[in-house]
Amino acid sequence: MFKNLPDYVEDPILGLFDAYRADSRTRKVNLGIGIYCDEDGRVPVLASVRAARERLDGAVPSIYLPTEGLPAYRHAVRELVFGDTTADLQERVVTIQTAGGTGALRVGAEFLASTNAQPRISMPAPTWVNHQAIFQAAGFEVSHYPYCTPDGRFDIEGALAAMRDLPAGAVMLLHPCCHNPTGIDPSREQWERLLDAIAQRALLPFFDMAYQGFAEGPDDDAWAVRECVRRGMPCLVASSYSKNFSLYGERVGALSIHASDLETAKVLGQLKVVVRRSYSCPPAHGAALVAAVLEDDALNAQWRAELEGMRQRMLGVRASLHALLAAELPDVDLSFLLQQRGMFSYSGLSTAQIDQLRSRHGVYVVSSGRVCIAGINASNIAQVCEALVDVMGRTSEPREQITRISSPA
Ligand code: LMR
Repeated sequence: MFKNLPDYVEDPILGLFDAYRADSRTRKVNLGIGIYCDEDGRVPVLASVRAARERLDGAVPSIYLPTEGLPAYRHAVRELVFGDTTADLQERVVTIQTAGGTGALRVGAEFLASTNAQPRISMPAPTWVNHQAIFQAAGFEVSHYPYCTPDGRFDIEGALAAMRDLPAGAVMLLHPCCHNPTGIDPSREQWERLLDAIAQRALLPFFDMAYQGFAEGPDDDAWAVRECVRRGMPCLVASSYSKNFSLYGERVGALSIHASDLETAKVLGQLKVVVRRSYSCPPAHGAALVAAVLEDDALNAQWRAELEGMRQRMLGVRASLHALLAAELPDVDLSFLLQQRGMFSYSGLSTAQIDQLRSRHGVYVVSSGRVCIAGINASNIAQVCEALVDVMGRTSEPREQITRISSPA
C-alpha cells in the first residue's frame, strides 16, 4: 500500500527551519523563516498580549468557536484592515477568522474556485513560496507577473503588461506592504496605476497582508486595500497576526471579502461551507488575545507602540548592516538594504553563496536569497557580516538580477 508515492520535496522555508534546529553548532544564525526576534534573539511576548492573556486566563472555556470565528475578533480585524473607509463597512465586508494567513488564502481560493469553473490567478514573480501551491491545490491555473526591475524597483510596466493577458474575472495576488520575499513595494502612485488597470480589466485583487505595521505603520500599510474599498472595487484580503502580534503558533488569521453590492449572508454561508469541510472551526485562544488587545483602548495603544518598536528595530538593523558591510565591501552596491521594507531583504546572493553561508558560517538564508533581517541583533551582526563578506568577497559573481521566481518545486 502507498508504494508509489512521490518523494517528499522539503518546503524551502520550513525545511530550512528544520535543518537550522537540527544543526548542533552553537554559533548559528537563523535568517531563514520569517520570525521576528528581539535584540536578545528571542521571539517576543508582547506586553499588550501578556496583559490580555492575564485578563483572559481561566475565563475562556475551550469550546468550539462558531465556524466563522469569534465575533469580537472578526469585528476588531475588520476595523484594523479597513479602518473607517466607509460608514457601511458591515454591509460591504464579510470577515471570518481563519487558521492563520495560510488558512485565509486557502479558504479564499476554494471559495473563488467554487464560483468559477476555470479559475485563474496571476501572482508576482517572485512571491511567497506557498502561494502557488495553495492556489493550484484549489484548482487555479497560475501565471506570474514580473515584480522587480533589474535595479531592484517594483516593475510597474511589467506588471501592467502581464495584466493585459488576463481574462476578466482573473485574480491578481497583491502584497499590500513588505513584499515577501523582496521587501520591494509599489509607491502610492504605482498602486493607483495598478488599481486603475485592475478596475478597467475587471480583475479581482486578492491581497495577502501578513506584515501590517512593519513597513510604515498599521494604517499606512493598509493603504492599497483601503483605496480599493474607497473606489468601491471588490477585493479579498487574507490577513495574519502571526508577526505583528508575535503569535505565530496560535494560527491567528482572517479572510475578508469586500464588494459594494455584497450579499453578505450568502457569502458568509459559502465561506462556512469551505471551513466546515476543511477544519470545522478556527482555534480559539490567539483570536481571543488579539480581540482583547484591539478592543481595549489602552492595550491597543500599547500594542501600536510595541509594533512601532519592532519596526524601528528592523530599520536600525538595516542601517547597521549596511554600514558594516559598506565598510568592508566599498565597491558593492548595498543600497537595497536601506530601500527594502519589512522583515525581508532580497540579497541576490547566488545558490553557491547561500550554501557557503550555511556550511561555513552557520548562517541560514532562504535559497531564493531572502534574508530575514529581523533575526539579526547586536550579538550576531558581526558574525553575519563576517559571513557575508566572506562569501561575497570570495567570488567574483555579480549579484543576480532579483527576478528569480521563488516557487515550490
Ligand atoms: C515566511 O515567509 O517565512 C513565513 O511566512 C513563514 C512561512 O510559513 O513560510
